[in-house]
Amino acid sequence: ANGGALEAKDVHWSFEGPFGKFDQAQLQRGFKVYREVCSACHSLKLVAFRNLGDKGAPFYSEKYPNSNDNPWVKAIAKDYEVNDIDSETGDAIKRPATSADHFPSPFANEAAARASNGGALPPDMSLLAKAREAGPDYIYSLVTGYAEPPKGLTVPTGGHYNPYFPGDLTSAWHGDHKSVPKGGFIAMAPPLKADLVTFDDGTKSTLDQQAKDVSAFLMWAAEPKLEERKQTGFAVLIYLVLLSGLLYASYKTVWRNES
Ligand code: HEM
Repeated sequence: ANGGALEAKDVHWSFEGPFGKFDQAQLQRGFKVYREVCSACHSLKLVAFRNLGDKGAPFYSEKYPNSNDNPWVKAIAKDYEVNDIDSETGDAIKRPATSADHFPSPFANEAAARASNGGALPPDMSLLAKAREAGPDYIYSLVTGYAEPPKGLTVPTGGHYNPYFPGDLTSAWHGDHKSVPKGGFIAMAPPLKADLVTFDDGTKSTLDQQAKDVSAFLMWAAEPKLEERKQTGFAVLIYLVLLSGLLYASYKTVWRNES
């Protein structure tokens, strides 16, 4: 089901299970990894800055129920530039982003993105955590999973061997045809390494930690209403249990004189 790749590693996430919740500190660290590393190549088009201050989001605060007032959101948006049209002259301009803007793309268009990446296209990250079966486990496994290519595998220029990337290595394999290595060649070089990002909460910045945190952040980006959905699901279950009890009791009452 995962295209000849190794099964993704099974990470324990705070947002798993019926009562799972995002870990806000983790989301903030993951956002920092996205912002300082991944966003150089990967866009996040479906996310607006104000979403960062929504309930369940990395910078939500009860003090600012309206995320447009959230000072962290405002400060983050201000650091970005977005394209716009000058309403008077009609010229294309750049201006600082506001909370209402979406994350700008790192490249002007697909051709520019491919030109900078040896022909490959870095996918938009808004739904990446839902794009592959293993979700955040896949993202985590991929970025931590780069390995020395086994002897007998010819790695093409611009390609990087990664056992978690879907592919078919048969034609690049010169060893025993029954033991073709799993995985594929990915155009993305390993994006993370220890201490690449400094975490503001003092968490040790290992490769593993960065990978977990950014995967959690991308899960939030792809499913910002996860907590709400789980809470609603639970409320529905309680309602159904109570309703069953009530129906059973009324059935007993209505039919109490029948033999
Ligand atoms: C592909 C994650 C940073 C360039 C991918 C994929 C993932 C990913 C999961 C595979 C998508 C799929 O299965 O289709 C990340 C993360 C990053 C990051 C978490 C930050 C920590 C970067 C950077 C660059 C880049 C900085 C450019 C220098 C690419 C390209 C592809 C890709 C070109 C497409 C590869 C191909 O199709 O062979 N990335 N990435 N990524 N990424 Fe990244």
